[in-house]
Amino acid sequence: MISKPIEKALQQQIALEAYSSSVYLSMACWADVEGFEGTAAFFYKQSDEERMHMLKLVHFINDNDGHAQIAKQDAPPRNWKDIHSLFREVLEQEQKVTQSIHELVNLSLKEKDHASHNFLQWYVNEQMEEEKQIKTILNKLKILGNDGSGLYLLDRELGERAAMADPEGEA
Ligand code: FEO
Repeated sequence: MISKPIEKALQQQIALEAYSSSVYLSMACWADVEGFEGTAAFFYKQSDEERMHMLKLVHFINDNDGHAQIAKQDAPPRNWKDIHSLFREVLEQEQKVTQSIHELVNLSLKEKDHASHNFLQWYVNEQMEEEKQIKTILNKLKILGNDGSGLYLLDRELGERAAMADPEGEA
């Protein structure tokens, strides 16, 4: 059984993961229409992953005598100035999620809720990996600047990453 303060904080995390899923879907749409085919595939996949993060929270709450609530959420932006500003926003979103996960871990310690503490470690690791991945892409973008051929190759690389993560091409 989870405590009420933990349940409330997990509900907020559901909303944050749902927003990540929706903003990455919107980024996929932008990339699709701007001709960044690989980047679009990357973000369709990221959007699916964020939905999976949300669902893990939903099941954890429901399996531990809580009742997961699905809240109304703000619509995500539809347009970005360029690929650089898009990835900067991804990093900001992921840093916000990381901070929220760390606050949840602190709360689980305060509440002496070992089950939640254990459950949250998966998110701590996932956030480290996601931030690292986005920082790597941003570093490459910094080197490339607005070099069209370089951006074309990076887009292709992102498409290959999405295909590797989803070999059946369902993204
Ligand atoms: Fe589930 Fe990347 O936050």
